[in-house]
Amino acid sequence: MAFELMLTCAIRNFLVLVCMNAIEIKQLTKKFGDFTAVDSISLEIKQGELFGLLGPNGAGKTTIISMLSTILKPTSGSALVWKKDIVKAKDAVRHSIGIVFQDPSLDDELTGFENLDFHGRMYGMAEQLRKERIAEVLKLVELEEKAKALVKTYSGGMKRRLEIARGLMHKPKVLFLDEPTIGLDPQTRRKLWEYIKNFNKKDGVTVILTTHYMDEADFLCDRIAIIDNGKIMALDTPEKLKQVIGGDVITMGVSKQEEFKKILEKNPCVKEIKVFDSMLNIAVENGSTCVPKLIALAQKNNIEVDSVMLKRPSLEDVFIHYTGRSIREQESDGKDKARIMMKIHGSGR
Ligand SMILES: Nc1ncnc2c1ncn2[C@@H]1O[C@H](COP(=O)(O)OP(=O)(O)O)[C@@H](O)[C@H]1O
Ligand SMILES: [Mg+2]
Repeated sequence: MAFELMLTCAIRNFLVLVCMNAIEIKQLTKKFGDFTAVDSISLEIKQGELFGLLGPNGAGKTTIISMLSTILKPTSGSALVWKKDIVKAKDAVRHSIGIVFQDPSLDDELTGFENLDFHGRMYGMAEQLRKERIAEVLKLVELEEKAKALVKTYSGGMKRRLEIARGLMHKPKVLFLDEPTIGLDPQTRRKLWEYIKNFNKKDGVTVILTTHYMDEADFLCDRIAIIDNGKIMALDTPEKLKQVIGGDVITMGVSKQEEFKKILEKNPCVKEIKVFDSMLNIAVENGSTCVPKLIALAQKNNIEVDSVMLKRPSLEDVFIHYTGRSIREQESDGKDKARIMMKIHGSGR
């Protein structure tokens, strides 16, 4: 009987663990004066999930992360991180999370090892444990050989890897990554993706990352919330989000856009049509049969066709579908460019 009870408890505990939400957000709102940066968002993130907040600059991603990591106080609404309230139990929340900020926050005058050691001390880790853990996290991001070098001699990619290692030092349950690969070259970005996937899938760390890169969200995330103007516009797996568009997407550059758009709207081939970036973005059931028909239609109406591109739907198309705008249009605002330049020139913060 006792054994049966033990077994029932073990199964129940296991189920609680399996089903537990790492994060529960209810109507979370942040206002700066009259401006609403985060507008009543509600969302649950499961334990072990690799979750993405995808949206353009100024969408409110960093503000969401800042509230969840207790750096900013919400104006209203609530959130639990690992079952602890972000306002009432700040210390408990801080112990269960790691964070890699959008802007660099390493000490350039210290070595990689010293940066990690300092972090371990802040979290009250004993010396032996710190040593062991530093070796583990340096191995994870392949920086063992640079451990004794000053951080100011690191490349941008190495610094980012060290920041991720630091975020993982105290074995957080949840790791926040704010724009983890901003301003890095494609090869370095891909390498970082590997590390992120690795500690998420192998060690079960729940990861919440923000990004304005569609390919990053698509490749990495189990689920994505598309954020615009502080609101969640859509939330699902990358595959399901793309299925909303269905079929193929034809991007056409033409003269007399508005006129051609009106003509196309009446065509049975066309499921949805949006104008962005001076191009027509046309969702169709079957691209290869539609393209010749659309070109013939343009010629018949004396409309010049400059370019035609046929592709499978991307998250960019999903963003356009929900917001009528492109993420790319807004990607390189002045602030972002300045930040990237700072990184290229190795300025600390
Ligand atoms: N401390 C602040 N004071 C006033 N406005 C802010 C502050 N922090 C962010 N904002 C504004 O809130 C909006 C969301 O910013 P942010 O969360 O940084 O967006 P994202 O990370 O998606 O680029 C932006 O319009 C930004 O200018
Ligand atoms: Mg941001």
